[in-house]
Amino acid sequence: MKLHHHRHRQLHGGVSAAAFLLVVLPLVASSSSNHASSTVLSDANASKLRHSRLFKNALQRQSSNEQLSDLWTPLSNQGWKPFSESTSASSSLPESTGYIQVFLDGGLNQQRMGICDAVAIAKILNATLMIPYLEVNPVWQDTSSFTDIFDVDHFVNILKDDISIIRELPDEYAWSTREYYASAIRSTRIKNAPLHASANWYLENVAPVLESYGIAAISPFSHRLAFDNMPIEIQRLRCKVNFEALVFVPHVRSLGEALVSRLRYPIVESIDAVGTKYIRQVIDTKDGLGAGKFVSLHLRFDKDMAAHSACDFGGGKAEKVALAKYRQTIWQGRVMNSRYTDEELRNQGRCPLTPEEIGLLLAALGFDNTTRLYLASHKVYGGEARIAALRQLFPYMEDKKSLASSAERAKIKGKASLSAAVDYYVSMHSDIFISASPGNMHNAMVGHRTYLNLKTIRPNMVLLGQLFMNKSMSWSDFQEAVVEGQRNRLGEIKERKPKQSIYTYPVPDCVCQQR
Ligand SMILES: *[C@@H]1O[C@H](CO)[C@@H](O)[C@H](O)[C@H]1NC(C)=O
Ligand SMILES: *[C@@H]1O[C@H](CO)[C@@H](O)[C@H](O)[C@H]1NC(C)=O
Ligand SMILES: *[C@@H]1O[C@H](CO)[C@@H](O)[C@H](O)[C@H]1NC(C)=O
Ligand SMILES: *[C@@H]1O[C@H](CO)[C@@H](O)[C@H](O)[C@H]1NC(C)=O
Repeated sequence: MKLHHHRHRQLHGGVSAAAFLLVVLPLVASSSSNHASSTVLSDANASKLRHSRLFKNALQRQSSNEQLSDLWTPLSNQGWKPFSESTSASSSLPESTGYIQVFLDGGLNQQRMGICDAVAIAKILNATLMIPYLEVNPVWQDTSSFTDIFDVDHFVNILKDDISIIRELPDEYAWSTREYYASAIRSTRIKNAPLHASANWYLENVAPVLESYGIAAISPFSHRLAFDNMPIEIQRLRCKVNFEALVFVPHVRSLGEALVSRLRYPIVESIDAVGTKYIRQVIDTKDGLGAGKFVSLHLRFDKDMAAHSACDFGGGKAEKVALAKYRQTIWQGRVMNSRYTDEELRNQGRCPLTPEEIGLLLAALGFDNTTRLYLASHKVYGGEARIAALRQLFPYMEDKKSLASSAERAKIKGKASLSAAVDYYVSMHSDIFISASPGNMHNAMVGHRTYLNLKTIRPNMVLLGQLFMNKSMSWSDFQEAVVEGQRNRLGEIKERKPKQSIYTYPVPDCVCQQR
């Protein structure tokens, strides 16, 4: 886990009675649906179905009204509500003990946790926090800074009674830069913070550095603050940062909002200024049960992830060889999963679900073919060929490209973190969220949506791994097993257990009992 954690731990509306919805799709902007580009396909046979018998049945599925109605019904009140401070007359902050700087690895969702922990540490130390520095991730390659992604004014303002935050170091500390720490050993750098360090560790090891030098730069910093044995006000502060202080910059929110509204009310005004033509398509939602609603599906299935899982995704020998080669190049034999056979990995639920498998799961749960899916995804290994099966099961599947013109997407183009931010926004506003693999995005959504009591499907990976290996299983048996195995995994509260992340399980630390 240590070797790759920086790479891998890395979406309401009422039921409308209208059974017919008008969908308007831009003819020109929908580049996403015919993308079976030969480049991505070169090393795989990704279009081959792995579960063709189940798939055939899934295509002809008859979803019951009862099932659909259950699925789309929001979660009932589970007796909790987000903790909000009884705004005590804002006492002034204690005198600052110095400046804390952190350098954050990972993709957007891992960096998010680092930001929350950085605020917590500044609080523990009575220090002033410099806006966290976001490292460029080797896989995602996005150079966006904190202020490019998050609304920094909001961040500073929401936290103003908790800690002081600065956007730039004062001149006398201007030397304390990433380059300065990368070029030599420096006494103001803390590089030995243990994983899940205690509050005391920081008081014992960082406070003295602040006292001597007035500044301390902590790197690496991901996963460097424990989840257990923390004062409750620190836990609540971490949640406040994650769920209230961190909001995206206005252009990300407005693009996200546009996508959400096009998913819900698919009558779109003009999309592109340049010669836009529209196709009108009628969605016949089953008795209007899913009208105005959508599921956000997070599908991380890029080559990096596929290779690292060491699972066989059915792309044939060429794909196996290509993934093994990638694994060797990037991790030189250090991938634990490659010590197991594909069967062992599936038995343990360690293989991410393929687009075909997530489609079968959603179909078995009862989603019919008028369900609108938002595909929150970066790059899918195997390209459109691999997504084709899922699209056949869910023809009303949309993504950023199908919903917005390239002009609208210009500011996020080629920026993995900003794209991930848009997906985060849309996913937070969806009726239902599901992820094809447990990872940082999945965890971030599970936590944030739990906090707001929103429906989230947590796939039972072990069960699904085993079901998908049984090649003789009938559709009805599969369906029954899936429905049974997903019971209480649709957003029911799970309280945090020791060692678990407060950002994934914010109950009970960050909520209070509703009375
Ligand atoms: C949904 O499936 C039914 C058959 O089960 C079929 O008649 C209908 O055309 C399908 N709708 C779409 C949008 O594919
Ligand atoms: C931080 O400030 C509080 C309140 O003034 C004080 O009780 C605590 O000892 C201070 N901690 C440090 C590390 O300075
Ligand atoms: C792709 O699938 C076809 C049909 O199943 C098979 O004959 C072929 O060998 C596969 N190609 C590769 C590169 O695995
Ligand atoms: C496969 O599923 C069937 C039920 O459809 C069951 O009878 C059989 O035992 C399963 N096989 C394995 C190997 O688990």
